[in-house]
Amino acid sequence: MGNIILTGDRPTGKLHLGHYVGSLKRRVELQNSGEYDDIFIMIADAQALTDNADNPEKIRQNIIEVALDYLSCGIDPKKSHIFIQSQIQELCELSFYFMNLVTVARLQRNPTVKSEIKARDFQASIPVGFFTYPISQAADITLFKATTVPVGEDQLPMLEQAREIVRSFDNVYGEGILVEPKELLPDNKICSRLPGTDGKAKMSKSLGNCIYLSDSAKDVKTKVMSMFTDPDHIRIEDPGKVEGNSVFTYLDAFSTDEHFEKFWPDYKNLQEVKDHYMRGGLGDVKIKKFLIKVLEDTLEPIRTRRKELEQDIPGVYQILKEGTEYARGVGAQTLSEVKSAMQINYFDDEELIAAQAEKFKNQQ
Ligand code: TRP
Repeated sequence: MGNIILTGDRPTGKLHLGHYVGSLKRRVELQNSGEYDDIFIMIADAQALTDNADNPEKIRQNIIEVALDYLSCGIDPKKSHIFIQSQIQELCELSFYFMNLVTVARLQRNPTVKSEIKARDFQASIPVGFFTYPISQAADITLFKATTVPVGEDQLPMLEQAREIVRSFDNVYGEGILVEPKELLPDNKICSRLPGTDGKAKMSKSLGNCIYLSDSAKDVKTKVMSMFTDPDHIRIEDPGKVEGNSVFTYLDAFSTDEHFEKFWPDYKNLQEVKDHYMRGGLGDVKIKKFLIKVLEDTLEPIRTRRKELEQDIPGVYQILKEGTEYARGVGAQTLSEVKSAMQINYFDDEELIAAQAEKFKNQQ
């Protein structure tokens, strides 16, 4: 048994700073904590196809991008198994049996599904696969007997539903095979939702307000220089607002006192800068220039590592292949336990065969 992590991302785009503070950084810490017996990180291509059925090329292109992002952030394939969801057929099998344990009404009540359906404007044309993805996500988690699922708050209803499925399974087929998972939420608020460079609530590809982990230093600079600040802070002497000012939100998420010592010794810490800004007399450009240095402190090593990995793409696919093979081994074991509990393991069930033989003999 032990402590097992499973988490993952839909490969619908390159990963950005929001992913980094919201999940990637934490995953690397968890991976290196030595507290987990096994770690699975899944590239959820099959889930991504539930609302991208007509665009498989997009998913295909982004699998390698996401893998490069993982590895360049410090996910170490010796410690974490990175795998591709669609290559684990056991996940489909388990989902198929889970479907009998969940009602349509229960899926309709899932708040995440509800809001995603609204956001995608599906109206009456919701793909069945999309509608049922909480069931498939429960399979993702339970096939690996994950105890711990690091996710954002938006995924809480998924975890709740996964636990319900485990309880239903236990009721019907017996306990001891599947494990009820617990979520592990980001440890602070800024990390759960980094705003976009335009000040909008969230970094999102469609809004074009993201700083990607793979952006060049030049792109990072341009994006930061055009970032949303306080629209009423017109002249340098004007008092400025810190709240809702993206530059300060990013500094909250990324800057440390050491950064001040290294890059901006006029101030000891972020609070001093905030106080000055609120009093008036501190211009946006100075703060943005500092933010660029702070971000580059994180991004530069990631970018360098990514460039190296890009030189050996077949090697990256090999890492995914090995992670997938490992995951399949674990998944096949769980599925076999599930099928015996459900008594659908006919050919391995010698007792069943003997009992049937007996039954028909007695009928003669
Ligand atoms: N739904 C998750 C997301 O959109 C991705 C995902 C799929 C996942 N299966 C999972 C996350 C299982 C955690 C556990 O980000």
